[in-house]
Amino acid sequence: MYTAKNNRYEQITYKRCGKSGVKLPQISLGLWQNFGLEKSIEEQQEIIFCAFDHGITHFDLANNYGNPARGLAEENFGKILNRHMADYRDEMIISTKAGYSMWPGPYGDWGSRKYLMASLDQSLSRMKLDYVDIFYHHRPDPETPLEETMEALSDIVRQGKALYVGISNYQEPEARKAIEILKSNKTPCLIHQPRYNMFERWVEDGLLDALEEAGVGCIAYSPLAQGALTDKYLKGIPKGSRASREGTTVGGRYLTKEKLQCIRQLSQMAAERGQTMAQMALTWVLRKPQVTSVLLGASSERQLLDNIGCLKGAAFSSEELGKIDEILKQKG
Ligand SMILES: NC(=O)c1ccc[n+]([C@@H]2O[C@H](COP(=O)([O-])OP(=O)(O)OC[C@H]3O[C@@H](n4cnc5c(N)ncnc54)[C@H](OP(=O)(O)O)[C@@H]3O)[C@@H](O)[C@H]2O)c1
Repeated sequence: MYTAKNNRYEQITYKRCGKSGVKLPQISLGLWQNFGLEKSIEEQQEIIFCAFDHGITHFDLANNYGNPARGLAEENFGKILNRHMADYRDEMIISTKAGYSMWPGPYGDWGSRKYLMASLDQSLSRMKLDYVDIFYHHRPDPETPLEETMEALSDIVRQGKALYVGISNYQEPEARKAIEILKSNKTPCLIHQPRYNMFERWVEDGLLDALEEAGVGCIAYSPLAQGALTDKYLKGIPKGSRASREGTTVGGRYLTKEKLQCIRQLSQMAAERGQTMAQMALTWVLRKPQVTSVLLGASSERQLLDNIGCLKGAAFSSEELGKIDEILKQKG
């Protein structure tokens, strides 16, 4: 039986999620990759134990996580939780989502009430949980009325199957509307989960301000641009890395000549600050007061420990931020 380290809550800082009662660790662990068939269940559990031992209380899933079979990450996480960590359930924030294609036919995708209700029931049964802490709508649905999707989220809270709800990948105008509907339903939106990293900064154009105004938290996913914002790809694509695996978007999206050139310069700057490249990329996302937590992935304990080290990094001076902006202008 796993016993968590006694000093786990001294390892990390916690930040209030918007204006809610919930605090999240500033680093959260996502199970999108590495929690399917890529790794043995023992390797997966070592990463999760390491996270929890270092105060990471928030684990993020979705119905479709788990390579190659959808749902496998929830299944594996449920096994680890129920076999080894059941005593710690009340110390955890577990989230899942629905919104991407999950099963064939018209009821296994997007944002209908039919899909969201059925999908959450499936997720709970895969993880063997009575409830999740946060249930997200994973992406906006251009066809289903927003009221229907949000009413489904509200009913899920009323049924006790999720304690809070959130939205993910919503642009500013649709996020504002969703937040308003959830507020009028008296099941406020706890959190928004957008992609945010040095290469992808769209949230800075209004979304972060909208979240702050509404008192909604923000958890930034892919803060390392899927591993590109580390030193790992500077000498080519290492065997076993995410970019080396088939069907990933890392290479096409982030490993262009221009972006690699930026990473080289950023890496040099990180060394001058006494940080690794990964740590500097995370400190940079966390510099925004609206960001509650960075939601990262890790394929080993070593990576996770490296990343947790970002919390010891000095705040950026305005000169340093200006220099980063200059470097990023070359990204193409
Ligand atoms: N809402 C959404 O639509 C959405 C979409 C995507 C992700 N997410 C969430 O966000 C989570 C994180 O996404 P992500 O995995 O793309 O995040 P990320 O933190 O940008 O990338 C994680 C990957 O970077 C590499 N890495 C991490 N730390 C490293 C270090 N210190 N040094 C070298 N390499 C390092 C590892 O890849 P290797 O395998 O190459 O070692 C790791 O799997 C997901 O698990 C999921 O929960 C949500």
